[in-house]
Order: sequence, then C-alpha cells, then structure tokens
Amino acid sequence: MTFLDQKDIEKEYLKKKMLWGSKPNKLVVKIADMLQTGSVLDLGAGEGRNALYLAKRGFKVTGVDISKNAINKLSNFSKIANLNIKILNKDISKLDFNNKFDLILCIATIQFLDRKKISLLIKKMKLSTKDNGINILTGFTNKDRGFKKHPELYFLKSNELKKYYLDFDILQYEEYSIQDNHGKPHQHHMACIVAKKCQGAQ
Ligand SMILES: C[S@@+](CC[C@H](N)C(=O)[O-])C[C@H]1O[C@@H](n2cnc3c(N)ncnc32)[C@H](O)[C@@H]1O
Repeated sequence: MTFLDQKDIEKEYLKKKMLWGSKPNKLVVKIADMLQTGSVLDLGAGEGRNALYLAKRGFKVTGVDISKNAINKLSNFSKIANLNIKILNKDISKLDFNNKFDLILCIATIQFLDRKKISLLIKKMKLSTKDNGINILTGFTNKDRGFKKHPELYFLKSNELKKYYLDFDILQYEEYSIQDNHGKPHQHHMACIVAKKCQGAQ
C-alpha cells in the first residue's frame, strides 16, 4: 500500500513502531540548527519523528494529529523520553491557532485536505508565526505517480506553495523525488517550502 487513506493509516500505525521512519525530516534538522530554541507547532505530527526530535533538543513543542493511534504513540514516546510535548488529537483544518510559534511544520499532510482548506490552513499558519519565525511545508505534487489514481488526495501544482508565501522570505523551495519505505519501497514526488516571516508580514 503506497497511498494510505485515514482508515489505512489508523491500522498501519498499530503495525509498525515508526510508520514514517524514526529519523527527523532533513529540513527540520537544518532549521532547528538555525533557530536553536523556540516554540514549535507540528501539524499532522504522526507518531512524532519531528516533534520528538525537536523536544529532545529543547524546543517547546505542540503536536497535532487527527489519528488517535498516532497521538497515543506520540504520547507514549514522549513520556518514555521524559519530554513535555503538548499533544492534541484534532483535525488541523478545524484547529484554533491560539498562540504564535517560532516554527510551524506541516510535513506530508496537506494531501489530505482540499485546496480551500489548504489555503485557509496556510493563512492561519502564517498569522500564527512570530516575526522571523519559519514555516516548513511539504506535500505531493501532480508529478507523483498517484496523481491520476487518487482524486481523494490533493496534489500540488509546480510552484503552487510559493504563491502562498509571496510576503515571506522563501529560504528554500524544491520539487524532488524521494523513496518512501512504508509498505513496499516506492517513490513519491514532493514539493517543499521553507519560508521566513518578515517583520510585519501577514
Ligand atoms: C504521512 S503522515 C506524516 C506524519 C509526520 N508529519 C511525519 O512527517 O512523520 C500524515 C499525517 O497527517 C495526519 N492527518 C491527516 N489529515 C489530518 C487532519 N485533517 N488533521 C490532522 N492530522 C491529519 C495523519 O493522521 C498522519 O499522521
């Protein structure tokens, strides 16, 4: 199974210790090195490969996921490692962003939302980012081999993410193929953006 819907994900979370691997996303590591400290909101945190990594480094982390199994696992991993992650079992498209954060992540999750919800989510992410804070967002692109087969998922157009961040400083934007190892090893085509909030941007 290379494309999982939410029901599949819920089941798969019970089968594997770390469904998406235990290593943090490389961009997350790079930006953590840059920021060194601060508050983080991880949207669609899964079992927490990024949230746990950042909390271990001393960041103040909030992780949100719609999956009960992911949230239970993240909670357990967090307790075992004696970390203090704030964990919310919520739909990110209905989430009230009550605080401002130094770093907001949405890694490999927006494919589950439609374009309107993505647009609203990114608006909220931007508003809830502190001045000089960072957003990291990744998603499947329409060059992914699942594009035509999975109308239920959202596939980004080339450069689409950049359009949301015209008033931020885009530190990095890439479109690339990666190997994914849940189930049989397979490729995905992804876009990623790392954008920094300039003073006063919305
Ligand atoms: C491919 S996983 C990525 C997990 C994590 N970001 C990572 O990089 O390891 C996508 C996650 O998004 C979650 N998700 C999907 N739709 C969501 C929604 N509307 N609100 C919150 N989480 C959602 C899924 O439960 C799943 O844990």
